[in-house]
Amino acid sequence: MRILLCGGAGYIGCHTYVELVQRGHQVVIADNFCNSSRKVLARLQRITGQSVDCRELDVRDRDALADLFADGDFDAVVHFAALKAVGESCEQPLRYFDNNISGTIVLLQAMRDAGVKRLVFSSSATVYGDPRQVPVSEDAPLSVTNPYGRTKLVMEELIGDLCRSDPGFLAANLRYFNPVGAHPSGLIGEDPAGIPNNLMPYICQVAVGRRERLQVFGGDYPTVDGTGVRDYIHVMDLARAHADALDCLVRDGQGFTVNLGTGSGVSVLQLVDAFARASGREVAYEIVARRAGDVAEVYADPALAHRLLGWQAQLDVDAMCRDAWRWQSANPRGYADD
Ligand code: NAD
Ligand code: WQD
Repeated sequence: MRILLCGGAGYIGCHTYVELVQRGHQVVIADNFCNSSRKVLARLQRITGQSVDCRELDVRDRDALADLFADGDFDAVVHFAALKAVGESCEQPLRYFDNNISGTIVLLQAMRDAGVKRLVFSSSATVYGDPRQVPVSEDAPLSVTNPYGRTKLVMEELIGDLCRSDPGFLAANLRYFNPVGAHPSGLIGEDPAGIPNNLMPYICQVAVGRRERLQVFGGDYPTVDGTGVRDYIHVMDLARAHADALDCLVRDGQGFTVNLGTGSGVSVLQLVDAFARASGREVAYEIVARRAGDVAEVYADPALAHRLLGWQAQLDVDAMCRDAWRWQSANPRGYADD
């Protein structure tokens, strides 16, 4: 297939790029690099042994997208392009609505105009808000706890309306839980700008000496050790799921929404321990107050993804930590080290 990856230079997009190329697909990346580095492209070339076709554009740019689709001859689009920082979305909701929601509308219009009718969409477990029970299955009630989460829910709904209006348009909503880890080569990985919002990149930066200690947000949750529990999923497993989702859309001719997680909950302190074992480095931490908006425990019921796609996570927390550490230790300052 010829596949367009919008936001394909980012963390999950670049790992998915490798998986798709290695399965023999022709892949084009479109990205405006607002949260990624152009240096990832040379790394992708090293991993795949093939030159990378990347167009620098903003998905809200109607004309640029029309040009891209005019000679792209794409069979499908994978849409990663979004802003994703929860705290920032509370401070700048309009920026998030514009980038994520307007960007998606422009992209869907360009797909319609070009007759491209297969979409894989990066959704998130954030659409479950504060889940009433775990594990969370796809039919759990949906809700919103911040503007970023609202954009994901609205985008799923817009895509759903489009699918209902045109039965030939097929979409896969992939609800990622907590993506972590890196490609085993150590050449690509997560490289957040500024202070990391998410746990794993923060741990990595403490271990490599860029930050003094991790602040553990809350030690009094009703969980195994009082710290928050999440479903961490290796980005390589996630990448594989995108390729499987594309195959499934083509094979079954039906859209779907699936959770992508391991099905196991891991606490903050369990992840810190696993990382210390994998890296041989101590991870200094202190327990501080809860972070506003955080919930105690979220992990997936991933059974539907297994049933529909034949996909299940294969890599455990030790592999996630080992690969995250390989990336971080080889690139202490991320792509800026190049
Ligand atoms: P990322 O920021 O690394 O990648 C997103 C990419 O999209 C970046 O390269 C960025 O430059 C690009 N982009 C953003 N807005 C754009 C625009 N208007 N035009 C063109 N390019 C644009 O993030 P990621 O972690 O790879 O996440 C990918 C997707 O998965 C996002 O939609 C995110 O909301 C979703 N998601 C991420 C997580 C997570 O924890 N990483 C969890 C659930 C869902
Ligand atoms: C994980 C656990 C924190 C940082 C977020 C988004 C979600 C999705 C994934 C995009 C929690 C604790 C964290 C730190 C800590 N993204 N923590 N110290 O909050 O589950 O999900 O990213 O869709 O929408 O909300 O992930 O990595 O921020 O936190 O103690 O410095 O680690 O309290 O228990 P979260 P996270």
